[in-house]
Amino acid sequence: MGQEQSVTERDKASPSPSVVAGSTLPRSPTKHAGTALNSRIQPHTNRVTKKRPQKIRKDTRERKTIPFGGIPIPHRPPFEPEPKQTAMSIMKPVVGKLPLTDECLHYVDVCEVPQNLQKYFHQRYSIFKFYDYDIRLTNDAWFGITPEPLALRLANDLPSHLYSTPRRTTIVDLFGGAGGNTIAFALSEKWEHVISIERDASTLACAQHNAEVYGVSGYITFIHGDCLDFLDRLKHHPETLDLSLREKCDMSQTVLFASPPWGGVDYKEQDVFDLSTMEPYNLEVLHKACSPMEHALYLPRTSDLRQIAKLAPKGEKIEVVQYCMDGASKAMVVLIPEAMPELT
Ligand SMILES: C[S@@+](CC[C@H](N)C(=O)[O-])C[C@H]1O[C@@H](n2cnc3c(N)ncnc32)[C@H](O)[C@@H]1O
Repeated sequence: MGQEQSVTERDKASPSPSVVAGSTLPRSPTKHAGTALNSRIQPHTNRVTKKRPQKIRKDTRERKTIPFGGIPIPHRPPFEPEPKQTAMSIMKPVVGKLPLTDECLHYVDVCEVPQNLQKYFHQRYSIFKFYDYDIRLTNDAWFGITPEPLALRLANDLPSHLYSTPRRTTIVDLFGGAGGNTIAFALSEKWEHVISIERDASTLACAQHNAEVYGVSGYITFIHGDCLDFLDRLKHHPETLDLSLREKCDMSQTVLFASPPWGGVDYKEQDVFDLSTMEPYNLEVLHKACSPMEHALYLPRTSDLRQIAKLAPKGEKIEVVQYCMDGASKAMVVLIPEAMPELT
């Protein structure tokens, strides 16, 4: 099954899933024991080979001397130029699955869960409805994951909020994490290509595994790398992206989605969150990295609207959507249109 399958083909190909609140579960989800695919070690053969006695050759090479010192120069191997430093190696999608690591955990009982995560563990079925089917998360991932109902709603709404017509066909989840949004984008069947970038190998392994639990791993292209590096390549050095990525991420067909870490000053403690203090990437850094492409930013619910308004193209409005669960806003999504080249 290729990623390019249309929605209808995909429907036909997959076993009729049971649909629960807009999400699909493979008919018989299996527990994955977290086997490390690449960890098999080939046994050595203990064959003893008899070495031929080596002939001793006389060194006939000419010894050079310093012109007027007379001191012999020690022999050096022939000069070989340093291999040319290639400016950038090619950025490729992950082939197969990254192995699950000791950090890819599935907690069953609250007493196993670190104290600071217990609050999130109690909400595990709001985070992933099918948590019990061996959903894996790193301890860090619990803090940043987009809860499933919200991720599904966002994935389904996003195309209608976008400005570009005709609709774009590729979505790049720049901060893929353990797959909360990525899986929802794939489940929504609104995109021909879903690309998910994550720089932490264990978190990415969780995302791949979780996508498998939801039966959508085959529809997602995972990249293990830095999303800012990816964007720089896409905009300025497309030749350093693997051909398959270049084809899927044609800039005129792609929308970017960014749910960055909300580090820095605790946004919950501020009535209005100053986006210039967000770490490690503040609003300006994110917007600059994503521009000129159409992008959606998933930001704290109290983010400063005056700072966001400054991102609107001259004379235009931009959309800001509050996503709520149980009557309270969880996050704000800001939709920024493609920047048109300035007319001079
Ligand atoms: C808030 S979490 C994203 C959660 C995700 N939306 C979900 O629902 O699972 C942010 C993620 O971005 C990753 N990250 C941070 N900087 C990154 C970068 N420069 N490139 C790629 N991933 C990055 C972190 O490792 C973390 O997993």
